[in-house]
Amino acid sequence: MLRKIPTTAVPLSIFEVLRGFKSFFGNKSYIKEFESNFARYMGSNHAFSFNCCTASICIFLKAIKKLSNKQEVVIPAYTVPTLVLPIRKAGLKPVLCESSLDTFSMDSERLPDVINDNTLCVLPIYHFGFPYEIDLPLKLARENGFFVLEDTAQAPGATLNGKKVGTLGDAGCFSLCRGKNFSTFSGGMLVTNSDELAGLIREERDLLPGQGFSFKITVPFILTAYSLVTRPVIYGSFYKLISQFKHTTVHDSFESKLYSDFQAIIGLGLLDKLDKFNAIRLKKGMTLYKALKDNAHIILPEIAKNSTPVFNHFPVVFKETKTMEKVQVKLWERGIDTGRMYLKPVHHLYDLGYDRQKESFPKALYIAERLITVPTHPYLDDKSIEKIIDVFKSI
Ligand SMILES: Cc1ncc(COP(=O)(O)O)c(C=O)c1O
Repeated sequence: MLRKIPTTAVPLSIFEVLRGFKSFFGNKSYIKEFESNFARYMGSNHAFSFNCCTASICIFLKAIKKLSNKQEVVIPAYTVPTLVLPIRKAGLKPVLCESSLDTFSMDSERLPDVINDNTLCVLPIYHFGFPYEIDLPLKLARENGFFVLEDTAQAPGATLNGKKVGTLGDAGCFSLCRGKNFSTFSGGMLVTNSDELAGLIREERDLLPGQGFSFKITVPFILTAYSLVTRPVIYGSFYKLISQFKHTTVHDSFESKLYSDFQAIIGLGLLDKLDKFNAIRLKKGMTLYKALKDNAHIILPEIAKNSTPVFNHFPVVFKETKTMEKVQVKLWERGIDTGRMYLKPVHHLYDLGYDRQKESFPKALYIAERLITVPTHPYLDDKSIEKIIDVFKSI
């Protein structure tokens, strides 16, 4: 079978990519227009763009360092491991909090165990596009005087109690990299309602270099290739080649730069479609959720009360790893690719000073070893959804 459903995709037409060439003419700043539309969409007072979300986190941390001498930044033990890098680059210390099997994100009940007088910032992360209740981290932040940066990289447009996540804490960061719901291949955003924080972020952001000449001339080709490779027929036909470009290594550095006008034009178009694409993801995701939620072999994340998830992926934790492997093979045979996100918890990849003899974060390890992601993007057709449900029924 040539057709294969990729793990992630954002429908982007070649016509939309071609629009980016407007940025080569005139003096208009499309970045400014994009930032102001993004802020309006999120219901936030300020929005800043960057070359990636990692850079946006680093800039936020550098900004709040000007307001406090505290040194520790808390992230969940199961997450995108490279979050360690912006924390260290800002001269701060990463501290882990155990993950929850209910949300696959930080276990807020365990947060009191890891915060102290030296806690500068906590990052609740909405993994896979699922909002979760952050009342407790926000309350602890008020009582203990630390900042809350919501990592909304995977959940742009998701809501909790009628508000967009990313606007509930001091600031929210978003990733526009490949694999996200809202992607211009690379890019990152930071939003905040605080004028004081916005001033400090702007100071730091204005020190960053712009994109180099080689990026500017290659970005149209990169985006054209990106628009093509996630289409199921192309993905299936050229899988061997495409799979070589999937990330397998854990980075040990990153660069902080400005966003590009070319991508901002693409971003402006995609922002108008974000709600439509998120609604499609929600419908597909909920169909899978309802069909699989009572399957005794797996665990799904809870859907928080009064929340609208945006299903960046459909995450499934298997009680047995052998079952997980079998399901992955069966889905591939039926034309559906699956992903394994974060094969190891953060402290297994970076030396953060945790005891290596005994497992400090058993739930994070449990999730990392047993989680697959199933696609929910707009290219996933109804027939493929039925196939996914069939495969899970057969285990
Ligand atoms: C939760 C989370 N935070 C941060 C990032 C970093 O994003 P970027 O690749 O744009 O730097 C990612 C990207 O995978 C992510 O999933």
